[in-house]
Amino acid sequence: MSNRDREVGIGLIGFGTIGRGVVRVLGQNAAVISERLGARLRLVRIADLDTETDRGVDLEGIHFDSDAKALIADPAVDIVVELIGGTGAARALVADAIAAGKHVVTANKALLAHHGSEIFAQAAAAGVDVAFEASVGGGIPVLRALREGLAADRVLSIEGILNGTTNYILSEMEATGEAFEVILKRAQDLGYAEADPTFDIDGIDAAQKLGILVAMAFGAELDVDSIPTQGLRDLAPIDFEVARELGFRVKMLGIAREAAGEGDERIEARVHPALISLGSQLASVDGAMNAVLIVGDAVGPTLYYGAGAGEMPTASAVVADAIEIGREILRGAGAGRVPPLSRPLEALHSRELVPTDELHGRAYLRFEVTDEPGVLSKVTGALGANDIGIESVLQRGPASAGGSISVVVLTHAAPEAALRKAVAEIDEWPEVRARTLFVRIQENRE
Ligand code: HSE
Repeated sequence: MSNRDREVGIGLIGFGTIGRGVVRVLGQNAAVISERLGARLRLVRIADLDTETDRGVDLEGIHFDSDAKALIADPAVDIVVELIGGTGAARALVADAIAAGKHVVTANKALLAHHGSEIFAQAAAAGVDVAFEASVGGGIPVLRALREGLAADRVLSIEGILNGTTNYILSEMEATGEAFEVILKRAQDLGYAEADPTFDIDGIDAAQKLGILVAMAFGAELDVDSIPTQGLRDLAPIDFEVARELGFRVKMLGIAREAAGEGDERIEARVHPALISLGSQLASVDGAMNAVLIVGDAVGPTLYYGAGAGEMPTASAVVADAIEIGREILRGAGAGRVPPLSRPLEALHSRELVPTDELHGRAYLRFEVTDEPGVLSKVTGALGANDIGIESVLQRGPASAGGSISVVVLTHAAPEAALRKAVAEIDEWPEVRARTLFVRIQENRE
């Protein structure tokens, strides 16, 4: 039988927004997908606990029920697409699919960040593929770029806007001058932010994506829960205004690189808001878009930009993974033309994280202090006493009749331990009205 007459069967577990997108992409692009694959990519069946809600898509010829186990066992299903999310049922179903000899496509970053090694080992033993392009950067093919396009390079650094919700909130705060809570509420009303926005705004979602990028780029297995994260909650409109005056924008970044010291096997990885130069490409990424800047030692800076979430962009990555696996199936060569993390599993190593105290760089500090003579020199004096040089100082306020002023200090590069110590000392003073905001400045690597 020629491939043209063949079919590659997909079973979809989880029929939410992305699942609906998968049905749409497979439907609207059936001809071009068949042409590229050289065979038909057919959605054989769907399993979801909710079989009642009308998803508004044509399900003719697709078996739809709530039985995920029967879907996995169905001989017409070659590839199981897991789109239920989370690390509970999804973990068990992915394991079941692999044990049944089915290839797996997933968009589940939490599952891979926490149980990736286990899943990849199961897949290798069973001779099946696990593909997960949609787990980082939604529709942006950044994992495929790292895995294949940059396979010749030593990755020097990764800097990414990895979360659309936070990028939307930051863009809106800057554009409107409105407070974080107001914009968050708007983001929730528009469906950009979840009812419980913690995962996004505290940087957990971005840390999971960064953990996957780090595994792919450096062959490093990290304890993802220990990646230091700083969220957005303490940022105020004044920070965007002052940052712009100083030549910066505020962006939530996931940052990773290998430790600089000779023989130092550790990895620097963190997620936090950062001031980045107005002229940098990441600074121009607005709204819910994502972008990842990867610098390789041979290629130099490369930039990947696009929609990091949403029905059709995420479905685009999911279906592309299914096509890649379909090609392997048709080639009859078994799994893994390219290993999932761009290297054999035995080349992965557990790596320690560099503690943030060991970082060294410039910082943006905003002190909220009582408006009284001498307070400015007291702040700058305390920084000087900790060997922290000052690049510029600005004062704003008083913001209210209470007489509190904002003192913004841009420091010269300094050890983070010294910066934190100075801020902790200052925060003990009676003149300090609120906890000082500490935002790192990320130097331009483009
Ligand atoms: N909550 C995520 C974001 C969705 O805002 O980017 C995609 O992982």
